[in-house]
Amino acid sequence: MMKKTWLVTGTHTGFGKELATQLAQRDDVNLVATSRKFGQLDYLDQYNHGQIAKVILDVTNHEQVVNAAKDAVTAFGTVDVLVNNAGLGYFGTFEESNLADVKYMFDVNVWGLVDITREILPIMRKQKSGVIVNFSSIGGLYSFPTLAFYHGTKYAVEGITESIAKEVKDLGIKTMLVEPSGFRTDWAGRSSNKTMPTHEDYNQFGDFIKQMADGAHHEPGDPVKAAAIIINQVQNHLDNLPARLPLGKVSSDLAIEKYTETLQNFKDLRNLSLSADFPEEKQLISKEQA
Ligand SMILES: NC(=O)c1ccc[n+]([C@@H]2O[C@H](COP(=O)([O-])OP(=O)(O)OC[C@H]3O[C@@H](n4cnc5c(N)ncnc54)[C@H](OP(=O)(O)O)[C@@H]3O)[C@@H](O)[C@H]2O)c1
Repeated sequence: MMKKTWLVTGTHTGFGKELATQLAQRDDVNLVATSRKFGQLDYLDQYNHGQIAKVILDVTNHEQVVNAAKDAVTAFGTVDVLVNNAGLGYFGTFEESNLADVKYMFDVNVWGLVDITREILPIMRKQKSGVIVNFSSIGGLYSFPTLAFYHGTKYAVEGITESIAKEVKDLGIKTMLVEPSGFRTDWAGRSSNKTMPTHEDYNQFGDFIKQMADGAHHEPGDPVKAAAIIINQVQNHLDNLPARLPLGKVSSDLAIEKYTETLQNFKDLRNLSLSADFPEEKQLISKEQA
């Protein structure tokens, strides 16, 4: 049996932990589980018979990123599936958000993902196969108040991933964006700093932030099921791997709502959109001149 080697970032808690726990129990998988601190992955020891490598990886630390890729190749020869799961959130109105916090969130959610992907992609190109699973969010498609900067990170992940997909599709490499709505992980609680509005114009959003904080660990989404779905898609349905995988009813509802409304908008504006181009003969002339 050909084993696939998975490298998953942020496997201490949440989706990453569930993915690691399930991958660790499969015969057809080698697992490179990563976390920021020693001791965070001891829960995997009970499953380890040589098919698991535990690696320290803070995705904002370039040296650790380079070493994690090296450690994976040393342990198992390659990486077949990269899961960019590590990530955090931030709640606050656009005006009142703490910029140091939100810049750090970009460092983790966007630049960390970019850094490790640029280490692993050459390995996949060489072997002419691989899968990159990037954790976006329904927040990578649909926007709420008080999450402007989180959306910024996840819309960035969507755009970057779509573009990578087009660059590597003829090289045997596939991508999948995972777009969950609320799931019972640490995300809405300890993994999201919160700035309550102080300006009276924004008072109403304090309730929303409080609701999200109070709702932590009571979300409708089950990370165990999410992990099983992701693993099944990659292990068993690679030929039809979805470019986007919304997870949870809220995610599916909002994705459909957003795309339906947006499609209608684009259709309504069709003539206006086209009217912004040069007339066709002028385009031809300018192309010949170029
Ligand atoms: N849960 C949801 O409702 C939801 C919905 C949509 C998308 N997501 C996305 O799902 C992904 C996983 O989050 P989660 O929901 O499982 O939340 P979580 O339980 O808070 O897990 C996040 C993991 O990322 C790790 N992490 C944070 N900063 C890191 C860094 N600099 N380097 C390496 N690892 C780092 C954390 O490590 P520590 O334990 O050391 O802090 C933690 O293990 C995130 O990208 C999140 O945006 C979550």
